[in-house]
Amino acid sequence: MIKLLIFGPTGSMGKLITKLALEDKEIDVVAACDVTNIGEELAYIAGVKDPNNIKISDVKYLTEVISQAKPNIAIDFTIAPATEKNCLICAENGIRCVIGTTALSQEFFDKFERLIKKYHTPAVFSPNMATGVNVLFKMASILTSYLAEWDIEILESHHHRKVDVPSGTALMIANTICDTLECDPEETIKFGRSKGLNKRKVGAKNEIGVHAIRGGDIVGDHTILYAGPGERIELKHQAHSRECFANGAIKAIKFISDAKEDKIYSTDEVLGL
Ligand SMILES: NC(=O)c1ccc[n+]([C@@H]2O[C@H](COP(=O)([O-])OP(=O)(O)OC[C@H]3O[C@@H](n4cnc5c(N)ncnc54)[C@H](O)[C@@H]3O)[C@@H](O)[C@H]2O)c1
Repeated sequence: MIKLLIFGPTGSMGKLITKLALEDKEIDVVAACDVTNIGEELAYIAGVKDPNNIKISDVKYLTEVISQAKPNIAIDFTIAPATEKNCLICAENGIRCVIGTTALSQEFFDKFERLIKKYHTPAVFSPNMATGVNVLFKMASILTSYLAEWDIEILESHHHRKVDVPSGTALMIANTICDTLECDPEETIKFGRSKGLNKRKVGAKNEIGVHAIRGGDIVGDHTILYAGPGERIELKHQAHSRECFANGAIKAIKFISDAKEDKIYSTDEVLGL
């Protein structure tokens, strides 16, 4: 049985994931930790009628929560500094993590991977758990291989509360394209363009522009623009609601409960793409 610990149950993603997890017969939610709404009924926060008698715990007492509730899987959609601390504690305690938080550092991933191998706690990380977006990554790779000489630009739009720029998904699209083009992401990806004279762009191998828009309650749009002589193609994904990410998170929780290799899995492995 999956015994789930939820980080950030009061957040936009946390609430949705909590609702789906509480309603899922294969998942037993045993604990939830946050920095707000401490002591409140988890089911009430998630808008679920049946109480499950779990109250939100203060994340300060994470180690005590783990030893009492004995979760075997944790889900984390919070903020980078919180994930980078809490998921290391989970791995050291034999708990497998599913992480959706974006803007995590390479230093965290290095430490986390070492702990995963030491404590045999495979994890899933994906900056975008929506099925459609992961299919978009595959399509970007295919289209890039045919249009390597064209200009490629990435545009992303998100709600005005989003703190990280560019989105983790836009970065992953840019890295996927660089992998296909066999070029160095550090040299090729350019974030936005400044006023004045910019150097002339000559094809995607020379430069891939990534542009961010922040406004209102846009859930998440990503467009990959392929522009060639006299024609263009746009590959576009739009998330209509956060449900697509939450459904992906539940799939990842079930996948990781059974995963065999001590590594960080990606969503395309979860979805078998
Ligand atoms: N991977 C995906 O598919 C996907 C989809 C949407 C959002 N995200 C990412 O998920 C993260 C959360 O997004 P959101 O829109 O739900 O944000 P949000 O601001 O609505 O929620 C963040 C939650 O984290 C909680 N929190 C803060 N510090 C904490 C700590 N130390 N311990 C436990 N909880 C803590 C906050 O109280 C809040 O409940 C962001 O990084 C976002 O980019 C990923």
